[in-house]
Amino acid sequence: MLLALETSCDETSAAVIHDGCVLSSVVSSQIKLHAEYGGVVPELAAREHLRNFLPVATAALHEAGVTASQLEAVAATQGPGLPTALLVGFKAGQAIAYALRKPFLGIHHHEAHLYSPWIAGNPARAEFDQFEPNLSLIVSGGHTMLVHVESELKHRVLGGTIDDAAGECFDKAGKLMGLPYPAGPVIDRLAEQGNPNAFDFPRPLLNDANDDFSFSGLKTSIRYFLRDHPAILDNEQSLRDLCASVQSAIVEVLVKKTLRAAKRLNVKCVTASGGVSCNRGLRAELAKACERQRLKLRLAEKSLCTDNAAMVGILAERKLLAGQMTAQYDDEIAPGLQLA
Ligand code: KG4
Ligand code: ZN
Repeated sequence: MLLALETSCDETSAAVIHDGCVLSSVVSSQIKLHAEYGGVVPELAAREHLRNFLPVATAALHEAGVTASQLEAVAATQGPGLPTALLVGFKAGQAIAYALRKPFLGIHHHEAHLYSPWIAGNPARAEFDQFEPNLSLIVSGGHTMLVHVESELKHRVLGGTIDDAAGECFDKAGKLMGLPYPAGPVIDRLAEQGNPNAFDFPRPLLNDANDDFSFSGLKTSIRYFLRDHPAILDNEQSLRDLCASVQSAIVEVLVKKTLRAAKRLNVKCVTASGGVSCNRGLRAELAKACERQRLKLRLAEKSLCTDNAAMVGILAERKLLAGQMTAQYDDEIAPGLQLA
């Protein structure tokens, strides 16, 4: 029985994991709190984590029907993330583990994302029996990266964004259009009834021979486009067309570069996780492309795309079973931790 905690950004989350099964997964999102500032305010996030931590952790134990004394290990996200936010879950996790004299594991946030697509079913469990080497796209407001997962617990980062993350691009594009934060889900909804070929936006680094991404140029081109065509925002259908065109530019780069890397590495499976992998356009295009190339596709379930402690706990339990201890009671958070 393992208690997992995740507080790296703006979600306070706790989960109880046992034998690869998610006994409970509680997520308290702070989106509303940060919306009025148009982005996550680190100091507010930390205070909100402090306020939410006990109720969330208690609810996770309660839902799992477990008492603290039954816990055999505790895990928490060590990094990367906002320092003051990470501190809350990580230090609380260490304190709980120390009080119980049980092992404590510090988990890399991105590594945890790699395993969320393998959590499925109701009740949710990690389908490691179906695991196969894969190409994993992690795409959210803070990260956009391609990772080759060669085997369980063994991976290699192929590339990532050199400036803005894809979710950041959705959010900044939406801000230019006057949409509320976070704009990703709003653009997704409006794009559904828009024409993706209405306006032509650049597909940055699409044909470059690397696995990197860049989205800040796309954001700038949207800014100039709106400066030159301000009336577009006054018409509902043009706004939908604009959303569909922007989404299509982002999705095309993500899908083509993911599939190209999968083909090059000769993997038979593609996975995706992170907030942007909720995007219906991305999910549909990935599905089409993988079907064409006869690749298996595992998308994280929508509730597990965004940050959650279940993925942290699933990975932590796997590491514990493999004898990989990753942190001590007095270790520190690692806000800039890079995935190798
Ligand atoms: O994983 P997440 O909750 O937090 C981190 O950034 O780590 O991802 C949040 C990001 C935001 O940028 C949000 O706009 C984007 O994911 N997002 C979406 C969708 N849902 C969330 N972007 C596009 N389409 C969506 N449906
Ligand atoms: Zn994340």
